[in-house]
Amino acid sequence: MEGSSKYLVKSDILMPTFGAYFPTGNDSLILSHFPYLRNMILKASQIHKSYGQLPILRGVDLSVEKGEIVSIVGASGAGKSTLLHIIGTLDKPDRGRLVINNVDIGELSQKKISLFRNEHIGFVFQFHHLLPEFTALENVCIPAFIRGQGRKQAEMRGMELLDRLGVKHRAEHKPSEMSGGEQQRVSVARALMNSPALLLADEPSGNLDSENAASLHQLFFELRESLKQTFIIVTHNEELASISDRTVHMRDGQIL
Ligand SMILES: Nc1ncnc2c1ncn2[C@@H]1O[C@H](COP(=O)(O)OP(=O)(O)OP(=O)(O)O)[C@@H](O)[C@H]1O
Ligand SMILES: [Mg+2]
Repeated sequence: MEGSSKYLVKSDILMPTFGAYFPTGNDSLILSHFPYLRNMILKASQIHKSYGQLPILRGVDLSVEKGEIVSIVGASGAGKSTLLHIIGTLDKPDRGRLVINNVDIGELSQKKISLFRNEHIGFVFQFHHLLPEFTALENVCIPAFIRGQGRKQAEMRGMELLDRLGVKHRAEHKPSEMSGGEQQRVSVARALMNSPALLLADEPSGNLDSENAASLHQLFFELRESLKQTFIIVTHNEELASISDRTVHMRDGQIL
C-alpha cells in the first residue's frame, strides 16, 4: 500500500462511504470506474461554525447532485444564511470539509478560493445587490470582467443572458429605472455570467410580490432544464419549497 495516504485523501473526497484504497492517484480513472460520482456537485461534511462562544452550525452534512434544485428551510436564526455563505466559500467553517465539483475547498489558498468562487459559484440575494451607478448590462458583465474576459465577449454573453431572462430591453437601464422583478432577473443573469456549476440563492423571492416570485421560481426550473444548473435556495416561500426536488430542514444549526 505504498503511498496509500495520498490516494486515501483523494478517494475519500470522492468516495467517503467506501473510504477505500485506490491503487491510483488519478481522479479521472476513479471517475471512469464510478461514473455516478460525476453527479455529485457538493459534499459538505460535519460543518461547524461558531460566532464567539455561540455555536451556529453544529455538524451539518449536505450532499447535492448536479442539476438538483434543493430548498433549505427553517426558522429565523437556524443558521441557513451562515451555511449558504460557507457553501459559497464566502466564509470558512471552524471545522468540517467542503468539496465542490471534486475540489476540496479547505486545501485552497485564499486567492485560489476567490478564483474558484468567481468561476464556479453564482449568488442571488434577497436584495439584488446590483450596483446602482451601472446599467443592467454592465452589472451582468462584472463577474466576467473580474475573471479577465474582454468587454466585447462579456457583453455578447451578457445580452444573451438578459434576453434569456426576458429583460434584454432593460440592458441600458440602471437598477433604479427597473421594477423589483426586473432587477432580480438581472441579478440572476449576473449570477449566471460565468456559467457557475452551483447557483446559491438566499431568499431570492423574499422581496417580490407573489406573481414575480412565482415567475422567478419558474425561471430557476427553466434554467435547470436548459443550462443544467444546480440550485441551493434558502427560502421561506412554501410554494418554492414544495416544487423543489428536495427540501432540507434546518433547526438550531443542524439539518433535521
Ligand atoms: N457575523 C455574525 N456574528 C455573530 N453572530 C452572527 C453572525 N452572523 C449570524 N449570526 C448569528 O447566527 C445565527 C444564525 O444566523 P443566520 O443568518 O445564519 O440565520 P438564518 O437561518 O439565515 O435566519 P433568517 O431566516 O432570519 O435569515 C443568528 O442567531 C445570528 O444572530
Ligand atoms: Mg438568512
